[in-house]
Amino acid sequence: MRLEGPHDVSTILGRTICQDVLLALPHLPDSFVDLLIADPPYNLDKSFNGQTFKARSPDEYESWLESWLVPLRRILKPTASVYICGDWRSSAAIQRVAERHFIVQNRITWEREKGRGALANWKNCSEDIWFLTTSRQYTFNVDAVKLKRRVIAPYKDANGDPKDWEQTESGNYRVTHPSNMWTDISVPFWSMPENTDHPTQKPEKLIAKLVLASSQPNDVVFDPFLGSGTTSVVAKKLGRNFVGVEIDQHYCCLAEKRLAMASRDDSIQGFHEGLFWERNTLSQQRKRAKPSSQQQSLVLFDREHVG
Ligand SMILES: C[S@@+](CC[C@H](N)C(=O)[O-])C[C@H]1O[C@@H](n2cnc3c(N)ncnc32)[C@H](O)[C@@H]1O
Repeated sequence: MRLEGPHDVSTILGRTICQDVLLALPHLPDSFVDLLIADPPYNLDKSFNGQTFKARSPDEYESWLESWLVPLRRILKPTASVYICGDWRSSAAIQRVAERHFIVQNRITWEREKGRGALANWKNCSEDIWFLTTSRQYTFNVDAVKLKRRVIAPYKDANGDPKDWEQTESGNYRVTHPSNMWTDISVPFWSMPENTDHPTQKPEKLIAKLVLASSQPNDVVFDPFLGSGTTSVVAKKLGRNFVGVEIDQHYCCLAEKRLAMASRDDSIQGFHEGLFWERNTLSQQRKRAKPSSQQQSLVLFDREHVG
């Protein structure tokens, strides 16, 4: 859909708006968003289905960020959370803009793993996700985003029982509090059902952490740069309402296709039985899985040993 005039919330929930976000924005209602996830073009030359985003000076990138982020404040609830993604080049500009207009709560660093090796520089394999809020009152469900890790040092207490870890048939695990360093998420590999031809698609597991931590069921999640639809798809799988804006028609079609698939399969790779699992634990997850569509997908993914 495209927005030509004012809309109320009921007419846009669950929709993919195929339009420049700056043109859609004036037609969006006030204060309807609980969680905003923005994965804008980073400050590099990048082609999105033929439309190229041109790298610019840090000051110009900062002004561009401000051109959409400041007007977006109007659609946020007073308790809303905002996440903005960037690479090391874009991150400083995001921080400066964020500090002017929001309360900066944290910066998550995601070890992306995949990245082109450089001959005269360090390989670029991390991204930042800035966590901002509009006020001091916001949602953070820490128990919903705990990480299940294999135990390296299996300490036991005086009675010989595991100290803060669990002994299971598939191995020894500890459930840990989530930190701002994310090393358990790989990019969507070609063999994963979530993969599309979008050049900068985010993993569902990464977006799932943001959605589970910073929204409640039925809350509204909004993404102004929807791409292949990851935010909307994850929001749908996790029982949230969603609205996404994407300028490119082909990517909007990808998003719609993925949303249709999500009606049949709501599994999220690497998120199992309410916990996020480390990378390379798919066979253990499978051992614990009950026969379900999720288990079938785990079998399919096992060849890759990711997620
Ligand atoms: C980094 S990608 C987002 C990828 C997305 N997170 C995913 O998982 O697929 C940025 C997207 O913003 C879109 N875009 C760029 N400028 C836009 C604008 N002014 N309005 C809406 N979308 C825009 C691009 O077409 C691209 O798909």
